[in-house]
Amino acid sequence: MSSEMVNGFKLLPGFLDRKAASDLVRGVAEIVASAPLVTPHMPRTGKPFSVRMTNAGSHGWFSDKAAGYRYQSCHPQTGRPWPQIPRDILAIWRALHPGAPPPQCCLINYYEDPKARMSLHVDADEEDFSVPILSLSLGDTALFRIGGTARKDPTRSVRLASGDVVSLAQDARRAFHGIDRIYPGTSTLLAENGFPGGGRLNITLRRVTAGG
Ligand code: SIN
Ligand code: MN
Repeated sequence: MSSEMVNGFKLLPGFLDRKAASDLVRGVAEIVASAPLVTPHMPRTGKPFSVRMTNAGSHGWFSDKAAGYRYQSCHPQTGRPWPQIPRDILAIWRALHPGAPPPQCCLINYYEDPKARMSLHVDADEEDFSVPILSLSLGDTALFRIGGTARKDPTRSVRLASGDVVSLAQDARRAFHGIDRIYPGTSTLLAENGFPGGGRLNITLRRVTAGG
């Protein structure tokens, strides 16, 4: 059985320098101030996620027991529209995905609990899989795992450090992936920029609707 990396996976180690990463974290702190982090729950079982989430953009991803995985235009608790995607985040998208339509979802995952993780899953709630996903890692290093488009496909693990950027295109766009663990205390970035609990932030940018 081959354990080749799925095609379309691109890792840009250290793409964001400390200054760019600090600015992004402060921008996320502003988003969190108006759209507070919430704990999603699994459809049906109602099991809580170990990460907390919020969003920016026209389409915010959320999940709860009653309605399951979905995009919605407003924050589930405040009822207000999600904040706009910060300009520096849009500039990264344009630089790395030139010609692609702009992202509609800027999902923010906060791994504050040292035991926070994300089970193997496919990002499958979008209409358009032709546009790549962009994922920015900030703060503590994480162990990322990615396989193929079938759950049984072999997986590979890579460490994602603060400032690393991942693009998921082609087969990788529909590949199973997740976070097995974070390595607490490996970065001071969050604690120094508005997240006193430290930990790791992941920013995922996605195009949701077809056309555009
Ligand atoms: C996700 O797949 O939603 C998160 C990935 C990450 O935290 O790097
Ligand atoms: Mn994902």
